[in-house]
Amino acid sequence: MNLDYRGSMRLAEDLLREVNPALVEEKDIVICPSHSVFLLTAEILRESGVAIGAQDIFWEEKGAFTGCESPQFLAEAGCQFVIVGHSERRQYLGETDEIVNKKIQGCLDNKIAPILCVGETADDRRNNSTDNVLFRQVTNALKNIDLIPDEQIVIAYEPVWVIGSGRTIEPEEAEHAFKIINQALIDLAPLTIIRSSVRIVYGGSIDSSNFKDFTDLEHFSGFLVGGASLKAEEFINIAKQI
Ligand code: PGA
Repeated sequence: MNLDYRGSMRLAEDLLREVNPALVEEKDIVICPSHSVFLLTAEILRESGVAIGAQDIFWEEKGAFTGCESPQFLAEAGCQFVIVGHSERRQYLGETDEIVNKKIQGCLDNKIAPILCVGETADDRRNNSTDNVLFRQVTNALKNIDLIPDEQIVIAYEPVWVIGSGRTIEPEEAEHAFKIINQALIDLAPLTIIRSSVRIVYGGSIDSSNFKDFTDLEHFSGFLVGGASLKAEEFINIAKQI
């Protein structure tokens, strides 16, 4: 909810100017606009090779669920990714691990790749419970989900206290978190499926001044970019250099 209608259209046009076929051939670039501008953004970026995602979803496909967004309808509208369990939804809308789990299933049933957000709060970090929180969030989110080879899941590790703060964590801390996430995954699915289906990305105040600290980490596959994605040139410059 950072950009209004006109701001969103301008950003989509700017992105269209910044991307080129070689870049989208080499990297997966996904834009997740607000629901209100989803279709218009998708239309502007239709031929660009940039994938379109949504910022949330409901788990049921159809029915009397006023105000909810159907994974089936979003998939029909061209949605390829959905952010699930973002810390702001967990914090302000009471999204539990159980809800996140249902949303992941809803995505996969409709061939949408979920971008599952996990991360510790400042309190978790103070209490030394980061590892437990990450392990629990990943395990519960993927509970009873049978990953099959061509399904795609992105797990975004975002320390909650870093999001939107302008601060970052030490790369070693991120690498440790990736390892915990990877360990949780290994307990859930065969390694071959994990390697072919799951990507782990980092998020939290990533911009052009700090992204390079994270790109060489073990298990790193990309970024979830918030504030810096509101400037097309900066966002695409990061994409070009990872
Ligand atoms: P940020 O946002 O990059 O501005 O910290 C990330 C997010 O909202 O997930």
